[in-house]
Amino acid sequence: MTEVAAAADVLQCLFVDNQLLAEGPLYQHGWLYWVDIKGLALHRLQLATAEHQQRHVPEQITSISPRQSGGFVVTTRTGFGFIDDFSAPLRSLGVVEPALPDNRFNDAKVDPFGNLWAGTMDDLEKTPCGSLYRLTPEHQWQVFDTGYIVTNGPTFAPDGRRLFHNDSVHKQIFVFDLDASGISNKRVFAQLGVDHGHPDGMTVDAQGCLWVCEYAGWGISRFDPDGKFMAKLALPVANVTSCTFGGDQRETLYITTAAKGLTAAELAEQPLAGSIFAAAVGVQGIQGAVFLG
Ligand code: BGC
Ligand code: CA
Repeated sequence: MTEVAAAADVLQCLFVDNQLLAEGPLYQHGWLYWVDIKGLALHRLQLATAEHQQRHVPEQITSISPRQSGGFVVTTRTGFGFIDDFSAPLRSLGVVEPALPDNRFNDAKVDPFGNLWAGTMDDLEKTPCGSLYRLTPEHQWQVFDTGYIVTNGPTFAPDGRRLFHNDSVHKQIFVFDLDASGISNKRVFAQLGVDHGHPDGMTVDAQGCLWVCEYAGWGISRFDPDGKFMAKLALPVANVTSCTFGGDQRETLYITTAAKGLTAAELAEQPLAGSIFAAAVGVQGIQGAVFLG
């Protein structure tokens, strides 16, 4: 794939709304789930019928991942929690960073061992007090890395042996070795330059390549398994927040975006900011893991 000049051919807008901070897309049984973190909402869209459902949540939900026992494990502003189905109440596991009231959770994903990896960030986006946590199936959490202003996008290589994670402010993608005991051997996978935005949510495809959403970057960049930039899928909105493969064959890339912080002039230039998109990118994704707790 070269720069997708013909983006209109592969890209479709599925849900039009200026959501503040749509994030965390999850495909499950024909439905696309996502959160609007700043809009205090959980959404789902049945892809075959376009039926859309939305619920208000009392605390920001920042990510949603499948749980083996049914329902979902979520990250909230302050910690981890569970919801047993789309409309069930949120059950919280407690406050993770009580001494950091300006911090909140951000992206999260389940590793092949059934643990949930989730990062926190300074919601004011100024202080490097964000950390990367692992929640085990026994519901214990532990910090594995720290010093981030904004964490983003944990995801895993298809063989389950590497974890990728972003320092969004410094535009760095890190890679770690991953095993059942955790992560080690942190190194830079890619440093994004001036022609890229801030690395946000990401996913891997079946070829082991990384699809990195670019906040303030108008698209999604694909990197090969060694960190070499390959191509960029252009979007008609600046703040591209996260993506996931879905569909029967995991053949479609579903994409969330954000309208938060845009001026009226910027919004006029990108009226679809905050909408949900789908792209036929010509490669398949991998089956995501489920939380074993
Ligand atoms: C966060 C936003 C932040 C953006 C860019 C997102 O994941 O939720 O609050 O502005 O990343 O760094
Ligand atoms: Ca994110």
